[in-house]
Amino acid sequence: MSEHETVDPPLTVAIDGPAASGKGTLAKRLSTVLGLPHLDTGLLYRAVGRQVLDAGQDPADSAAATAAAEALAPADLQRTDLRGPVADAASAKVASIPGVRAALLAFQRRFAEDGAVLDGRDIGTVVLPKARVKLFVTASLAVRAARRHRELEARGGAVPPLDVVLAEMAARDEADRNRATAPLRPAEDAILLDTSALTSDEALARAEAIIRWKLGV
Ligand code: CDP
Repeated sequence: MSEHETVDPPLTVAIDGPAASGKGTLAKRLSTVLGLPHLDTGLLYRAVGRQVLDAGQDPADSAAATAAAEALAPADLQRTDLRGPVADAASAKVASIPGVRAALLAFQRRFAEDGAVLDGRDIGTVVLPKARVKLFVTASLAVRAARRHRELEARGGAVPPLDVVLAEMAARDEADRNRATAPLRPAEDAILLDTSALTSDEALARAEAIIRWKLGV
């Protein structure tokens, strides 16, 4: 390589946004298109919440949750009981504990070392502040609640009524926005993508266009 050639840093894409905004689906599809690994960081908080519940402890217990986060192993993310109202509530509780967030930070940064797509709440602001592309994905509360309700129905089993799903989601968003450590908010250099009226294909096309523009390709 000549001394004039430069090597681009690995491509990191940070996708943040509230619950059921479409960020997870978008992140997964983008990772396939870009040939990069994908980490759904919500799973980390869900797995920590589950471990604490399994141990018969309270997800709001800072010492218990921090110890669970420090002991988290990649296999814990494969659990099949990380979705649903109980796991939702436990994840939001452990996510407000600074020790938990600190313990999960290194894992997320290591994952992104050689390039990756990460989705979550604080990827563009805290985990990867230098991500080359940052998207903040939103949708109206009504649309998000309807999406989550459909997801729960597709999974089978008992599904709470739509208004309960909406109320729980609104409460979790509120907690995510108002916590002292790494609150949910767009990074200053994030690009907003409202998926309320978009299909998954349309959201992907917009995101791809944004990435091409950001990378100048
Ligand atoms: O799928 P959904 O958007 O409902 O949630 P998730 O992305 O799996 O995240 C579950 C919970 O984990 C969120 O409500 C947050 O409280 C927390 N979380 C976080 O604090 N930071 C992240 N980077 C990802 C999730």
